[in-house]
Amino acid sequence: MIEDLKKTFLDELESVKSLADLSNLKVKYLGRKGIITAELKSLSSIPPDERPLHGKKINDIKQFIEEKLDSRESQLKKEELGRQLLSDSLDITLSGKFTTFGREHPINKILSEITDIFVRMGFSVEEGPEVELDYYNFEALNIPKDHPARDMQDTFYISDDIVLRTHTSPVQVRVMEKRKPPVRFIAPGKVYRCDADITHTPMFHQIEGLMVDKGITFSNLKGVLEAFLHRMFGADTPVRFRPSFFPFTEPSAEVDIGCILCNGAGCRVCKGSGWLEILGAGMVNPRVFENVGYDPEEYSGFAFGMGIERIAMLKYSIDDIRLFFENDIRFLRQF
Ligand code: DAH
Repeated sequence: MIEDLKKTFLDELESVKSLADLSNLKVKYLGRKGIITAELKSLSSIPPDERPLHGKKINDIKQFIEEKLDSRESQLKKEELGRQLLSDSLDITLSGKFTTFGREHPINKILSEITDIFVRMGFSVEEGPEVELDYYNFEALNIPKDHPARDMQDTFYISDDIVLRTHTSPVQVRVMEKRKPPVRFIAPGKVYRCDADITHTPMFHQIEGLMVDKGITFSNLKGVLEAFLHRMFGADTPVRFRPSFFPFTEPSAEVDIGCILCNGAGCRVCKGSGWLEILGAGMVNPRVFENVGYDPEEYSGFAFGMGIERIAMLKYSIDDIRLFFENDIRFLRQF
């Protein structure tokens, strides 16, 4: 009779079509009032010497039923998942959701390009305050009280002796004050001048550079700046140095590159000259060294400074500097 149980169970399992059917079958056999449970209970009513053998048979059947139920269950679940995947399948014709990505601002792009070039030449990167003491912005850089750059028209004064820095050159003084030579760094940052038209904004960006050691000469200045300009604008770009004047360098130079827009033929941007002024530079004035406690007999060095907006305008053919700061997304997307 107990052998028949196995057969009956297998027949019934055969007709199970859903997880609900299966659950009912499980209750029917293994539940508290189930067939197997009843069989186990009835063990007490048979003769003691038959109990072990009979008990084992029931337990074997129980285990058999459990295994069959389990495997059928996982089979049914798999079938159900397959049906589900088929019924709510992906609609690949639906258009995707797009995330708009930001871009690096063209000024930051040029800044990091320039920074990369100098860092690879062994320069470190330094910073200084934008609200600066008159002393660092002018005095220590040998810009005397009556110098035109100190005119109220150019400089934003916070008080008599505090200004918004008009250039990044004060970082030279700050770094040299706290560090002994050799020094070799660039200092990018914002500068401020009371000026506004299509090539001037009251805030703009500069990069300063300084290299001081024993035996630094004008050749070093030329070599480093030429290497920089060739990496920045291309190896064939002509470079020329013109005599100039800055209070904090002696001698001073202005550095031009052959016009990248007309290749030197002469155009509106280079005003027909074929050349574009890119940076100011020179050998550090001994007076600046004295102000920071360096001995000008022992050390020499060169400094340079350039405007980032100007370089970006030339590189990207932008004719109005104000476009950089209007945050018009149509403009910014182009870089
Ligand atoms: N500070 C100057 C300016 O804002 C630029 C400059 C010229 C920086 C010559 C220098 C330099 O370090 O040597 O116009």
